[in-house]
Amino acid sequence: MTLSMANGWARVAASGELPEGGRLALTIDGQRILLLRREGAPYAIENDCPHLGCTFTRGAFEGYALTCPCHDWTFDIRTGAFDLAPEIALRTYPCREQQGALWLLLPERKEHPHG
Ligand code: FES
Repeated sequence: MTLSMANGWARVAASGELPEGGRLALTIDGQRILLLRREGAPYAIENDCPHLGCTFTRGAFEGYALTCPCHDWTFDIRTGAFDLAPEIALRTYPCREQQGALWLLLPERKEHPHG
């Protein structure tokens, strides 16, 4: 996807694409990322279960708890932590909403000399 960037923040979606309780799957630089909205706030997590790699595009989403559809591991979308063993965690990405859009602060990209 083509991203517009500002100070390291990438515009990844329009606000209206992520309703309350909704989720939106993205792939950015080969990283699978899931946006979610709860209590009005947007969250962004790695969309790749640390158990066996399923995505969270389906699976229960209640409160801040997101459950993997494959074997029911449940994670807190605010911290990425697995509820039974918090040392296992999904990566989370800073996410904010501004100018009618959702923005992610992505890890630094490695620049390729030839683009
Ligand atoms: S792949 Fe997610 S719980 Fe097994």
